[in-house]
Amino acid sequence: MHHPTILAIESSCDDTSAAVLVNGEIRANVVATQQVHEQYGGVVPELASRAHQQHLIPVVNAALQKAGVARHDLDAIAFTQGPGLLGSLLVGGMFAKTLALALGKPLIAVNHMRAHILAHFIEEPRPIFPFLCLTVSGGHTQLVVVKSALEMEIIGQTIDDAAGEAFDKTAKLLGLPYPGGPHLDKLAREGNPTRFPFPVGAMPGYDFSFSGLKTAVLYFLKKETTQNPDFVQQNLADLCASIQHTIIQTLLRQLRRAAADNGLTQIALAGGVAANSGLRQALQDEAAVQGWQVFIPAFQYCTDNAGMVAKTAEFQYQAGDFATQLVSSDPRLKL
Ligand code: KG4
Ligand code: ZN
Repeated sequence: MHHPTILAIESSCDDTSAAVLVNGEIRANVVATQQVHEQYGGVVPELASRAHQQHLIPVVNAALQKAGVARHDLDAIAFTQGPGLLGSLLVGGMFAKTLALALGKPLIAVNHMRAHILAHFIEEPRPIFPFLCLTVSGGHTQLVVVKSALEMEIIGQTIDDAAGEAFDKTAKLLGLPYPGGPHLDKLAREGNPTRFPFPVGAMPGYDFSFSGLKTAVLYFLKKETTQNPDFVQQNLADLCASIQHTIIQTLLRQLRRAAADNGLTQIALAGGVAANSGLRQALQDEAAVQGWQVFIPAFQYCTDNAGMVAKTAEFQYQAGDFATQLVSSDPRLKL
């Protein structure tokens, strides 16, 4: 099989990333994280677009240099078409189109959610089709039956907040800095996960709901802090552990049923929330009980990165799935 040399650009949210794939391997995966959003407690779309414009060319140059690849050696230019923030997607999309046009190279439009899933093929151990993937990020929570690299079916998804959003929003209620997920994870390690029982979002089928948890935590904290203004400070680790436990149980409940009903035993975890230490442990424990084989990519390929876009583009290259200059960014692109 011919292994194309691919430059991939990822700019769907607040990370600017470029990666170079050579001989099926990621030779460089450079990510510039935007700090400007921290002071606002969330991603400010217009500031994200501007930061992408500043970071993109240095990041691309760094990736090419690190990989030791010259522009004329590239076989294709890939970019994230969607889903994501329109203003952010447009920066990466326009850059990729312009570069492809200038170099006379083929263009490949990649779906960000497919890329999170196909990140599992960057390094060993790789799952074998078909497998079940739980994608948990700041923007999405999906249960996907992955039949092949090009054929995927969403069987469950969140009807409100994403799992990462549930971490970030509850962390914000506890006064933790943005994004709160990693902070909450760290504090939870010292806490009691069953001290404060919060509601597990129980949805029919394989769908998820996390808005009830956020509301429950909000009202619980309001009630407790009127009696004791230091309640959060005094119980921070237990609060974090209890919230994290609830999110994990919500995810595991649907995952367990989806795996059983579909007869799938290879379970893959994707997206930034895959970094959560409690979730990783809970999944390993569940795997021992259920006889699952669990796959979790290296951290740098879980959070938003262009490496996963390059790997997905390789599958598309081999299938002859190229885009034209008429392709446009799509903030709501479906899987
Ligand atoms: O996939 P990602 O990098 O970006 C999106 O496409 O959204 O995911 C970012 C999300 C954020 O909500 C962040 O708080 C969460 O992943 N996250 C974590 C952890 N590390 C990142 N959540 C819980 N525990 C972590 N260790
Ligand atoms: Zn993502």
